[in-house]
Amino acid sequence: MHRLEKMWLTFGVAMLAVFLIVLGIGVFANGAQPPTTHAHGGHEKPAPELAEETAPFDKPGLHKIGDNEYKLVMVAIAFAYKPLEDKIVIPAGATVHFEVTSTDVVHGLQIPGTNVNMMAVPGETTNFTFTFKKPGEYLVLCNEYCGNGHEMMWTTITVA
Ligand code: CUA
Repeated sequence: MHRLEKMWLTFGVAMLAVFLIVLGIGVFANGAQPPTTHAHGGHEKPAPELAEETAPFDKPGLHKIGDNEYKLVMVAIAFAYKPLEDKIVIPAGATVHFEVTSTDVVHGLQIPGTNVNMMAVPGETTNFTFTFKKPGEYLVLCNEYCGNGHEMMWTTITVA
């Protein structure tokens, strides 16, 4: 083997080792948990699991806020979306302001066939505005892998 080639090969392997060691230390130092799951600490915001006790997430569902204008509050929770029981029925042509959060891990909220595509992040509010012009049944699904029930995490919105 050429001397220079051997030198670079050694250098490459060494860098890989350093990278793996740094990654390993990082994982163990954080207890292999994403930082969002830590309930302690002096955050000003309420803990994600308390989101449902805090407005607007204490009242998930559709709220009329104006002429043909609605606020749709949704809480993503492994593996469903709140409101659970109440069917979401939106009048055709209405503008909907989504307010979305998660109480556990990062979830997605996508409505295929539209440009509605949000992330539901624990402790944060995601806002998106969409006007439902076409009547029909819209599928709402989670597009962030969130655990072994991910595939079953979906709901529907009816536009009538
Ligand atoms: Cu929630 Cu995937």
